[in-house]
Order: sequence, then C-alpha cells, then structure tokens
Amino acid sequence: MNLESKDQSKDRLQWWREARFGMFIHWGLYSLLGRGEWVFYQEHFGLEEYAKLADRFKPQHFHPKEWVAMAQDAGMRYMVITTRHHDGFCLYDSRVSDFTAPKTAAKRDFIEEFVDACRTMGMRVGFYYSLMDWRFPGAIPHSVIQPDEVYRSEVEQAHAQVREICTQYGTVDILWYDMMHPHKAELWRSGELNRTVRELQPGILINDRAGLAEDFSTPENVIRVETRPWEACYTMNRTWGYAKYDRNYKSPHEIIRLLTTCVDGGGNLLLNVGPDGEGEFPIESVEILRHVGQWMRANGKAIYGAGPSPISAPALGLASRVGDRVYLLIQRWPGSTVAFAWCGSKVVSARILSTGQEATIEQKGDRVWFRGFPDYPPDPYMNVIELEFDGEPRASDPAYA
Ligand code: GLC
Repeated sequence: MNLESKDQSKDRLQWWREARFGMFIHWGLYSLLGRGEWVFYQEHFGLEEYAKLADRFKPQHFHPKEWVAMAQDAGMRYMVITTRHHDGFCLYDSRVSDFTAPKTAAKRDFIEEFVDACRTMGMRVGFYYSLMDWRFPGAIPHSVIQPDEVYRSEVEQAHAQVREICTQYGTVDILWYDMMHPHKAELWRSGELNRTVRELQPGILINDRAGLAEDFSTPENVIRVETRPWEACYTMNRTWGYAKYDRNYKSPHEIIRLLTTCVDGGGNLLLNVGPDGEGEFPIESVEILRHVGQWMRANGKAIYGAGPSPISAPALGLASRVGDRVYLLIQRWPGSTVAFAWCGSKVVSARILSTGQEATIEQKGDRVWFRGFPDYPPDPYMNVIELEFDGEPRASDPAYA
C-alpha cells in the first residue's frame, strides 16, 4: 500500500525534474577485464575465479572529483553510481559481506570517497543497487528457479545492504534499484524495503525496478514518453561497464538529440560512463562529454526546468517550454526564414539562444514567420530558438498541442 500522497512525491521530484540530465556510472571488478559488466555470467566464471579479481582491484586513478567535474562540465546535475552490481562486489563498506572493496586489496570505500566529492562540489548523489546477486543459488539467469526459501539469504542481504547504503553516507538523493530476477516484489518484500528507505532518507527518490512504481520509471536504451515521471538511461557506446572493444560511441549530436527528445517528452536522461579498472573515463567518453558540455553552456536554458511545450514546429524539430518561453529545438535548419503555425499566443521575441541573434516577427492569425536568421545554422549540433510570449504559450487548436 502506498501511504503517501501524490503531492509528496511531486515535491521530492522537483529538483530532479529541474535537473533533467544526469550521469550513470558503472564501475566494479568487471571494469578490470574490459568486457562489460555481465562478464561473470557471459563467460560463466567460477565464483572463486571471479573473486580473485578483487586482488587486482587497486585503482590508481580513481579521482572522484575529476568525475564530478566532468559531469558538471557536461551540464549534468546528478550522478548515480553502482554501489553493488549483479556480481555482488560492493564498492562500499558492507558489514554483511566480505566481498567488498574495503575488505579486499583496494582497502578503500569508494562510495564514501565518491559521496565526499559530490558533496564538496554540490552534485546530487544516487546509488544504484542490484537486488540480484549472482553468487546466490538460483540467481544466475537461466538457472533452475528454486523454491522461495532458497532465495531467503539473497533477500536478507538486499534488505541489510540497502539499509547500509541509506545510513552510512548521509543524504542520498536517489535509490536506483536494478534486476529483481528471478523474483517478484513480494519475494523481495519491496514494500517493506521501500518503507524503511523512506524512513531513513525522507527526501530520497526511488525508481521502479524493485517492482513498485514509486517515484519514476526507467526505460532503458529507449525513449518512452509517459505521463508519470520517467528517466531514460542510455549507454554512451553499447555497454554499461567498461568494454575496451566497444567503440560504438554515440556522437555528441546523438546525445544532444537524446537529451532534447527526453526534455520534449517531459523526461530525464541518465547517460552512462563506464570507467576502466584504474578509475579512468574512456577517452571517447571524455571527448563526448566535453562537446555536450559546450552545447549545454549555450543552450541549457532549453533543458533545465523545461518540459513539454504546447507549441511546436514538428517539421523543424522538437520543442520545450519553461514558463512563458518556448524553445524550438531545431533539427532541420530551414534557412533565414523560420515559419511555423498553430500558434495561439503572441510571440514578442525570437532569438537564437547560442548567439543571441534576434529575428523580426510576423504573426498572422496562428501563423508565424521569423525573418533575418542566418542561412546556415550557427551551431553544428542543434540550434535553439528562444521564443518569448506575452503570457502563457498556447496552441491555436488544442487538439494540435
Ligand atoms: C540492465 C543490465 C545492467 C545495467 C542496467 C542499467 O538491467 O543488467 O547491467 O546495469 O541495465 O539500466
């Protein structure tokens, strides 16, 4: 049973809706091998064989302040890090497991260091936590499903560890569950778990992957516009954990398209980086983030706190809205004259966000023309035209909005 009102969830979500853009980090023992975060399963490692990786996990270049700085520079306003992925290895200090970074070769609590960096630099912190732990019987996908009691210790561990991550590191902004396999919410006792989490962290946002809707849903590598709060999580190449061979990086342009498509649909984008075993971001990720950051510095007004717009120009691209302003996110630059229609409010100014260049405006009925823009788009990725209205922007035909 959900005991809280919709308004409480809405209040909690306010900063997150404003933020719109976050960084996901997948980092763990698997990062040493560079074959993705499912390597344990995909190569069918033995438990002891995999556990030996912990002897080698002594990252020399883990500098969380640099991670935070790169996220900030890219315009991201929150970060979600894997405290423990499906392989069971905790980056943090767990009392209920010996398979942790502080208790093995690294002898460090990486989550504590990460949280410190975020706090110092004013970055919101989210914790990813995988319910499924492959080290438990019946947990590996495709293994024979066991009777409920076999999973009891895995469930107990999840309850204990979620409590730990919600008590040991001060304020946690997001709890990002993953993978219930093979059980349902009843077996995980997700309702009870989330009630405990909310007692420990009253302001926390909880995702939907423990089988309960909670604060937001999490479409993965796909954009699915929903009426409830949603966040699309995307890989930057095709893998979450570090994968040396995976050079299928999205271009900065594609990332900007993803982000603007999310904002146009009222959602967030959580973009992943998979640092290597030493703690370094792949060079491609660094470059992509740098380009996205340049775009965000010029065009962030169309992203932060922005949501769906009642007025748009679909032939040209997407649109977002903040109060009395609409941002046309132009994917197909039409030349010096920009025309659109079905506009039910008066436009008082139109300018290119990145250069400040204004256009003259002609408005007849619900048709609008902007003249005097450059023939060629000034921004190589996506150009944003900021429209200011003399009141609430409205479409002339509500069916169109
Ligand atoms: C999937 C994968 C996992 C990844 C997650 C991110 O559930 O199993 O490796 O962490 O997606 O959304």
